[in-house]
Amino acid sequence: MPSLHPSRSQGRQGRATTAFILISIILLLAILPTAAAQEKLLYRTPNNTLLVYACNAEDACEACSPVEKSLDVCKPTGNKEPIACKPIDAVNLNDTKEHDKNIWWSPEDVIPLDPGKDPILPTWRECDLVAGIESFRFFMFEVVNIMILLVAGIVVLWRRRLMSTEQYRRIATRLAA
Ligand SMILES: *[C@@H]1O[C@H](CO)[C@@H](O)[C@H](O)[C@H]1NC(C)=O
Ligand SMILES: *[C@@H]1O[C@H](CO)[C@@H](O)[C@H](O)[C@H]1NC(C)=O
Repeated sequence: MPSLHPSRSQGRQGRATTAFILISIILLLAILPTAAAQEKLLYRTPNNTLLVYACNAEDACEACSPVEKSLDVCKPTGNKEPIACKPIDAVNLNDTKEHDKNIWWSPEDVIPLDPGKDPILPTWRECDLVAGIESFRFFMFEVVNIMILLVAGIVVLWRRRLMSTEQYRRIATRLAA
């Protein structure tokens, strides 16, 4: 009788591999950058149209330089990020049906526009600079790499073991014949 129990050890290896893959996926999800918050800007034209703009961060949050500290965008947090705002909707507020479909905004968030004036879209906004988040991401990236190496190593070992078991079986069959 072979001392090795192929089916049982294979089951254990399979479970270990599955566990490693699952952990790797969880770690990968943890390091993926969180979806940047989308901010909406609302303007009301003199003809009672609500113009909706969506703003997305174009680049990473950065600390304002000493010269920039006095800028309005730098006052709340001392950090700023570049943004791009694009028109996404125009709601006719005279139309009660359209108005009721768009009740997610509150009137105090709406900026009234002067006749014939286009909205002045911001190009920067304040942001929170979380200290060390980048180095944490890098650390997690390394952890995931090591995990993947481990999984690959286990798969190689497992396959090698499977092959030697197969060889052993073949020799045993030949000897029995
Ligand atoms: C809404 O109603 C006002 C007054 O009746 C009118 O001047 C304006 O053009 C209307 N706006 C739209 C978008 O139809
Ligand atoms: C209302 O004003 C906006 C922008 O000022 C314009 O694009 C739109 O055509 C106007 N709508 C009406 C019904 O006058």
